[in-house]
Amino acid sequence: MAPAPTVPDAPGALPLMGHAPRLRDPLGFLTRTGLVRHEGLARLRVGPFSALLVCDPDLTHRMLVEDRTFDKGGPHYDRAREWLGNGLVSCPHGVHRRQRRAVQPAFHADRMPAYARAMAEQISSITDRWHEGQVLDVLPQLKAITARAAIATMFADMPRNVSVPALIHEFDLLVAGVYRRMWMPAPLDRLPVLGNGRYYQARDRVRRTIGRIIDTYRTRGTDNGDLLSLLLASGSAEGGRAVPDEEVIDQVMTFFVGGTEPPAVALSWALHLLTQHPKVEERLHAEVDSVLTDAGTGASFADLPRLRFTEQVITEALRLYPPLWMVTRTTTTDTELGGHHVKQGTVLVYSPYLIHHRPGLYPDPELFDPDRWGDDSPTKPRKEAFIPFGAGARKCIGDTFGIAEATLALATIARSWRLEPVPGRNVRPSALSVLSPGGLTLKVRSRKLR
Ligand code: HEM
Repeated sequence: MAPAPTVPDAPGALPLMGHAPRLRDPLGFLTRTGLVRHEGLARLRVGPFSALLVCDPDLTHRMLVEDRTFDKGGPHYDRAREWLGNGLVSCPHGVHRRQRRAVQPAFHADRMPAYARAMAEQISSITDRWHEGQVLDVLPQLKAITARAAIATMFADMPRNVSVPALIHEFDLLVAGVYRRMWMPAPLDRLPVLGNGRYYQARDRVRRTIGRIIDTYRTRGTDNGDLLSLLLASGSAEGGRAVPDEEVIDQVMTFFVGGTEPPAVALSWALHLLTQHPKVEERLHAEVDSVLTDAGTGASFADLPRLRFTEQVITEALRLYPPLWMVTRTTTTDTELGGHHVKQGTVLVYSPYLIHHRPGLYPDPELFDPDRWGDDSPTKPRKEAFIPFGAGARKCIGDTFGIAEATLALATIARSWRLEPVPGRNVRPSALSVLSPGGLTLKVRSRKLR
């Protein structure tokens, strides 16, 4: 039998350092070195560390679907586990099905109208405070919306003394820490360098705060019909012991960060892209003006089916800038992928960003074109080509929630406001754990005054 071919190195590896210098501009590395045309696997090297980058959509799909063999692991999840423990996003395959079954009812379609009401309230509570000429640091505003919506829908009985801005700040430190620590050699883990102290303090403070929220729920003993009530009841519902507090804390952290960070980032990219594409913005305004005809109210669940173009704008923003742009897995056994023998314990990397920018899948992939997603678009991509939420059993549980939230927020904002770039302020993609528009500052203009 012919030996399995060796996985080729990704372009541009230097002796000793490997791709480390290239990864200072990771998006350029993915899109400008030929990787977007590469079929199969390519090897990434950073010093002594090596991983396999899965470059084509079908292999990525296979890897995601075979989640027993390609399990959560690798630097991304090893670091995420330091503070998310074994929550749903980071837990290994062995406990995943039980956990997913326990929380799935909270994401049933019949919950969406109530969730959308809570989202709409939070969207208005923030955007109603904006005023003509105000210069917004956009991402914190949007995170305030999504964090509040996550709390209102998933943790309805949040004690009043919990400060949401403080929680958001602590989570920012943790999310930034995951990426920084991904490339940090283990011996440096506990040393007081590179923000380690701040990272551990933030983790401990957040876990204590969430412990207090759980205590409040247990003391009050009421079923709020929300995610946290479901989690607390799930052990006994399966005839087992109550779920330990540590596991509930992992889960609350997971849902808080999952429900806050990616939807806010997706929305911020959409707002940025609209400032660069006035014709698309005009069409968006035309749609929201024709759908949202009741004076003084924002978009609601009933409006969603008619906000098609608004949703297409969000979808296209998720394609161009998928918030989770790079994610890792590790193999639990020797296996085969793309004709290569892959040993147990190998780290694999999949990148929604890379897949979404492949010219073979998207004509003119750098173009912001929401019409790709129109019902009668001749170039509508196939399902393996669009993976902002992953795929298979580990696919995002909040995908519908996230799209609905971003669509409602964008429609509500676009109905009243135009957001303009501020001269001299440049936006640069910041590809850390999450891909966000670094430095996005926009000026608020009232559409009613025009
Ligand atoms: C635009 C919004 C969102 C994006 C782009 C996004 C992205 C993703 C991705 C890519 C994954 C899979 C990660 C992997 O393959 O390792 C994932 C999983 C997950 N997401 Fe989201 N997400 C979004 C919204 C949400 C929301 C709103 C929630 C909670 C309400 C949420 C909670 C989760 C959870 C718990 C998982 C783990 C699912 C499992 O393993 O069973 N996400 N998300």
